[in-house]
Amino acid sequence: MKLTVLAIVGGFVAQALAAPAPVPYTLHEKREVQKEKWTRNLDVKLNRDAVIPISIGLTQRNLENGYDMLMDVSHPESPNYGKHWSMQKIKETFAPSAETVGSVKSWLAESGIDNSRVKFSKSLGWAKFNATVEEVEYLLRTEYYAYTNAETGNDHLACEDYSVPTHLKEHIDFVTPTIHFDALVKPKKNRRDLEKRSMRVRPTPQIKKGSDIAPGTDLSPDATKYTLANCYEYITPECLRALYNFTNGTLALSSYGIVEYTPQAYLQTDLNLFYTNLAREIPSGTKPTVDLIDGATVQTTTQSFDDNGESDLDLQYAIALVYPQKVTLYQTGDSVEGASFNNFLDAIDAAYCTSGGGDDSSQDGIYPDTASGGYKGDEDCGTFKAASVISTSYGYNEADLTAAYETRQCNEYMKLGLAGTTFLYSSGDYGVAGNSGQCCTKAKCAGGTYNSGTSGTFNPAFPATCPYVTSVGATQIKPNTLVTATAPEEACQTVIYSGGGFSNVFAMPSYQSAAVASYYTSHKPSFTATQYNNSQAVRGYPDVSANGANYVVAVDGTLSLVYGTSASAPTFGSVITLINEQRIAANKSVVGFINPTVYANPSAFNDITSGGNEGCGTAGFTAVAGWDPVTGLGTPNYPKLLAAFLALS
Ligand SMILES: *[C@@H]1O[C@H](CO)[C@@H](O)[C@H](O)[C@H]1NC(C)=O
Ligand SMILES: *[C@@H]1O[C@H](CO)[C@@H](O)[C@H](O)[C@H]1NC(C)=O
Ligand SMILES: *[C@@H]1O[C@H](CO)[C@@H](O)[C@H](O)[C@H]1NC(C)=O
Ligand SMILES: *[C@@H]1O[C@H](CO)[C@@H](O)[C@H](O)[C@H]1NC(C)=O
Ligand SMILES: *[C@@H]1O[C@H](CO)[C@@H](O)[C@H](O)[C@H]1NC(C)=O
Repeated sequence: MKLTVLAIVGGFVAQALAAPAPVPYTLHEKREVQKEKWTRNLDVKLNRDAVIPISIGLTQRNLENGYDMLMDVSHPESPNYGKHWSMQKIKETFAPSAETVGSVKSWLAESGIDNSRVKFSKSLGWAKFNATVEEVEYLLRTEYYAYTNAETGNDHLACEDYSVPTHLKEHIDFVTPTIHFDALVKPKKNRRDLEKRSMRVRPTPQIKKGSDIAPGTDLSPDATKYTLANCYEYITPECLRALYNFTNGTLALSSYGIVEYTPQAYLQTDLNLFYTNLAREIPSGTKPTVDLIDGATVQTTTQSFDDNGESDLDLQYAIALVYPQKVTLYQTGDSVEGASFNNFLDAIDAAYCTSGGGDDSSQDGIYPDTASGGYKGDEDCGTFKAASVISTSYGYNEADLTAAYETRQCNEYMKLGLAGTTFLYSSGDYGVAGNSGQCCTKAKCAGGTYNSGTSGTFNPAFPATCPYVTSVGATQIKPNTLVTATAPEEACQTVIYSGGGFSNVFAMPSYQSAAVASYYTSHKPSFTATQYNNSQAVRGYPDVSANGANYVVAVDGTLSLVYGTSASAPTFGSVITLINEQRIAANKSVVGFINPTVYANPSAFNDITSGGNEGCGTAGFTAVAGWDPVTGLGTPNYPKLLAAFLALS
């Protein structure tokens, strides 16, 4: 042992003598596998004087206690249930320590980056500066190259790995731009336009036209079709109320937020058409409160199912199910650069944001947007208030992003949970496969390389696997079943399959450990450890589910049938919003992070015990008694869930 240590120290001394660096360095991040579509241009020599905008994510304090802090205000047995924190208290609790800030400052100064060049974000979470390629290569002991995306021709500046001083490893989360690539790409850009970024969040193709219904087919408003007897063919707000046994809102006391990413947009004419046919109690012209984030517009210039389907679906069902409660639309991103979840989170939490823009330029929209027609204003930073429940029907594959990036964002959901916000994300529409039905070519989805989805490793979704969000899967009504029956639903197998499985990034949270252990004891899946992480030590998803098949939605002037966990998430969020309304009426707090309470009350759910989530050339997991990685705990039984939440302080 001693000898090994001595040998290593000797090695460092030798290095120190040979190289100018006085401090030992340690590898910080390395790209495991080359992304197939990105090729490195070895022949393009980067200009040594080209300037790179560098961001260093500093390690925050107390994150290791974040889970327990959140449980303290969210666990049904906690005496502090519902005592949510102020944003100020959250900011102060997690700000990086003076030691972290000080030691990074010293390192930069010693490496020739004068402190006058470095800007720290308000939360102190990020150190940002501009430096030349030469300076950064020395600072991070790396080499930068230009990479080209074979599909789009987009260029991107990146390195294969980078190092930081050994004594700073614990103080630094990650540095950008380094090993990360644009997760998604948009149409070909000017090739020298290295700073231009893609639209990073796509509607997880979580909504689709039914294959048997041609685009624009008019379901013809026919009131006789939309009855409880036909819910297995046509889902309406009335069907959902009957399925989950809830009634209209009455008190207008709570708040509900729906997040959409430009250019996806709703049309008021579609909302009106929906009210006229399926929610007659809502006056024509009723609209959401619109918060425009980072130069967003609710665009009407391009109209198609792809442009309007997601927003129309989310808003029509959210508004109809919680009316007269207010629904806020968080329309995020300009029409040129687009935006990511981090841009949205910046807009509702100034501490997550920074004065100079604290985002990862390889993943997030950077504002002001320098591109022609882009938003020239500053990034929205704590400009808007978080609604009590926020539903998002967009998502990534976990393997599209780095674990460090995902962990940082996931911790932000933890902080906003402390403040009392419920975050719901759809679990994906391709069963155990990822977006577009793709599966991973490597074990653990390392490197984020995908195949067409007929084989390969299961491909979990993010943020669905973040333990601080509630992940919502999809169900469908069994054919020819009246919704008055006790168990009319099964896992969704019409057009889409409910996303579900186990994370490659996040450990299992204790709130679900009994449910997952019971699943493995009684229904151990036959898949191997090469298909997915079956260690029983990782986060399983989804947590809950709601109907996701045959929704009647007004899109571009016609009523269409829509499928997906995209429908399930806003529906489940509506149920939580109605529960918040009743808690507020009882002089109680909103529910905030719900997972500890829902796992402690499985009988408040209709257990879904049939159907599966096929993908990657397999039948996927199977919905069974109790929690399962297809439909979670099941669909809500509103009176029971309401009683469980009203029983809490
Ligand atoms: C880096 O340079 C850009 C372009 O000149 C400037 O807008 C930005 O504020 C600079 N960033 C820092 C941290 O100085
Ligand atoms: C629906 O909820 C009410 C209480 O609000 C209850 O009396 C009734 O039995 C429930 N219906 C079903 C089908 O469970
Ligand atoms: C509740 O919703 C149903 C179905 O849309 C509607 O018929 C009824 O008028 C609504 N009740 C109130 C009080 O708005
Ligand atoms: C599964 O996850 C556990 C816990 O994170 C980890 O220790 C293990 O290496 C993973 N196994 C595989 C095969 O990825
Ligand atoms: C809630 O608080 C208000 C004001 O303190 C009081 O008037 C009301 O009776 C309370 N309502 C309930 C249900 O406790």
